[in-house]
Amino acid sequence: MRTRPLKVALLGCGVVGSEVARIMTTHADDLAARIGAPVELAGVAVRRPSKMREGIDPALVTTDATALVKRGDIDVVVEVIGGIEPARALITTAFEHGASVVSANKALLAQDGAALHALAEEQGRDLYYEAAVAGAIPLIRPLRESLAGDKVNRVLGIVNGTTNFILDKMDSTGAGYQEALDEATALGYAEADPTADVEGFDAAAKAAILAGIAFHTRVRLDDVYREGMTEVTAADFASATRMGCTIKLLAICERAADGGSVTARVHPAMIPLSHPLASVRGAYNAVFVESDAAGQLMFYGPGAGGAPTASAVLGDLVAVCRNKLSGATGPGDSAYTQLPVSPMGEVVTRYHISLDVADKPGVLAQVATVFAEHGVSIDTVRQQGRQDGGGEASLVVVTHRASDASLNGTVEALRNLDTVRGVASIMRVEGE
Ligand code: HSE
Repeated sequence: MRTRPLKVALLGCGVVGSEVARIMTTHADDLAARIGAPVELAGVAVRRPSKMREGIDPALVTTDATALVKRGDIDVVVEVIGGIEPARALITTAFEHGASVVSANKALLAQDGAALHALAEEQGRDLYYEAAVAGAIPLIRPLRESLAGDKVNRVLGIVNGTTNFILDKMDSTGAGYQEALDEATALGYAEADPTADVEGFDAAAKAAILAGIAFHTRVRLDDVYREGMTEVTAADFASATRMGCTIKLLAICERAADGGSVTARVHPAMIPLSHPLASVRGAYNAVFVESDAAGQLMFYGPGAGGAPTASAVLGDLVAVCRNKLSGATGPGDSAYTQLPVSPMGEVVTRYHISLDVADKPGVLAQVATVFAEHGVSIDTVRQQGRQDGGGEASLVVVTHRASDASLNGTVEALRNLDTVRGVASIMRVEGE
């Protein structure tokens, strides 16, 4: 084994960074044996130097992250500060000064992955980011390496733990969105500002990364259709239960049936209770991958948290260090298919639509005609009269597969019918 250590600079020492440092120390001998050389924490860049950091030599701590990545003797920079800047500038500088990079930064990779990969390749460095998608769950490496000989057609997953916790709570207790969010906040699952999670931005960044790798094409954050889950109600869960379904916030990346394009989207959807993703509870994540030869694969585990995310970072660190020692680089960007990303209107799926309608003769026929006029085929209809004597009924229509554009046209026309008092909810049905 080489005795001269490989030097690691850690950018960020919060929930994930402190776990990375701890595991580097406690597992030092095993890491050295697996890599073929010791790894040494050579510097830790933080914003608040006065904060006590157990197990970290204060002499290693600096507020000057730029100087740290410019040192020239750093082999690997581990970036766990998140956000676009200064992370992007620091990673760029690290590549230019001889270091490879391990990052957990989904927002940056979803936005600027192509440019960062190009720079890494130009400079002969590695850029690894297993921790950017679904915490500890191995996904990037299986897609990039284990399935490199296969053809992935679909990636369908729960990639945000906060929203899964909230939806699971609503499902199991009948709670409304706000009540479930309050509990998630009290238990530390949801951030004080939960927007990134509940509005689907976090999941959309992960979907962009997964789609790009799965289909060997370029998918940016802006290409991902996104709907959050703040509008999901207890009534939606009651409808889902009646259909033998539950509701999950799903990231769905698909290759079109003709193979000529891809789509990527994040939105709440009903899935049958018999689907493996329906049993993913609490803050766990799971991703279902469908490919030509392997068939259906499911990856499951903790999608967030200090130690689980650090596990993914450390796995990348070992791989990058091994590459350094062998003088090679690992697999880089692979966007050779250049498949275009189709707009949401072209996505084809099933829909569950709940309408408030006048309870009188001919209404059902009127509604059915609107669906037919837009080429949307109805699978089932269920009508329930209201007991309040107001002459209204709830009409629940479940469609066969139709394009999002056709469905939107249908709903717009339904809203213009005098007999349709309101569209209570529209939910896609997936996983069948
Ligand atoms: N906030 C994310 C989640 C974890 O709730 O899953 C980091 O991506």
